Amino acid sequence: MRVLVAGGTGYVGGAVVRVLRAEGHTVRALVRPGSPRPTWLGEVELVTGDVVAGTGLEEAARGAEAAINLVGVLRAPRGQSHDAVHVQGTRNLAAACLRAGVRRLLYVSAVGADADGATPYLRAKAAAEDALARSGLEAVVVRPSVVFGPGGPGPNMVQTLRDLVCRAPVVPMFGDGGFLLQPISTDNLAVGIARLLALPAAAGRTYEAGGPERLPYREVLRRIATAAGRRLRCLSVPVAPLRAMLPLLERLPGFPLSRDEFTMLLAGNVCDPTAFWQDTGVQPEAFTGR
Ligand SMILES: NC(=O)c1ccc[n+]([C@@H]2O[C@H](COP(=O)([O-])OP(=O)(O)OC[C@H]3O[C@@H](n4cnc5c(N)ncnc54)[C@H](OP(=O)(O)O)[C@@H]3O)[C@@H](O)[C@H]2O)c1
Repeated sequence: MRVLVAGGTGYVGGAVVRVLRAEGHTVRALVRPGSPRPTWLGEVELVTGDVVAGTGLEEAARGAEAAINLVGVLRAPRGQSHDAVHVQGTRNLAAACLRAGVRRLLYVSAVGADADGATPYLRAKAAAEDALARSGLEAVVVRPSVVFGPGGPGPNMVQTLRDLVCRAPVVPMFGDGGFLLQPISTDNLAVGIARLLALPAAAGRTYEAGGPERLPYREVLRRIATAAGRRLRCLSVPVAPLRAMLPLLERLPGFPLSRDEFTMLLAGNVCDPTAFWQDTGVQPEAFTGR
């Protein structure tokens, strides 16, 4: 297939583009006007555009049979809302795909997407799914849990934790560190996305994509430290005082945790990926800490 990928320059996008190319698809990637041209994506056609501004989308979609929307932000950029990036962006991309004759759009949402979700990110993800469902395209939604493994250069949680384990004197252990995560590898997720894109029965479906294990945060840290050959030194951080201080702390440049991220972390990030594994035929890869 000829596939348009929006968000292909990001962390998950890097893996998705690699897998699509390896499986013989022709990839066209949407790149924002100000962003560096990502030579590491390899031999893919690049089209300049922006899903929020709605520019370049029809040109990018022309001739494609399917599209993947990986555009997403955990923290809304200055001057833009989560609704603008996730909802309006998805609406703009879907409308351009419809005009250009693209049949199917696969949207990468997130575990916990919910109209009544606890953060603007989760509410916007749910609204974007809804916008796609009403677009007139064949809609496929994939909701990943935390993603780990090699991908594009975007930020990712496991790398951030690994940097802390390797460089910081201590790593914060929030509460008892018992909240659960279900990490899925970039490779599993990307292969699954590529297969669902081509699977007729996936039309109109929503897939939760998590790894084979539900792991407490403290076990995630332990595996990262073991894989990095480091001793894990934790500093116990009580939840309530940190929550009270985050409105100030999150304003510090480079501070790695926002109020919303903390809320979502403590709520856990687990799902039922049975349909994802069954329909894609992908072999679930356990989290090794790498
Ligand atoms: N990583 C995870 O653990 C995880 C877990 C659950 C769900 N997700 C979801 O998966 C998707 C991909 O995540 P990721 O980790 O790969 O994120 P990422 O590394 O931050 O990549 C985001 C991508 O979106 C692009 N983008 C942002 N605003 C745009 C706009 N206005 N127009 C066009 N492109 C725009 C970025 O392009 P530039 O290169 O120009 O910045 C980049 O390619 C997101 O929707 C995210 O919410 C990720």
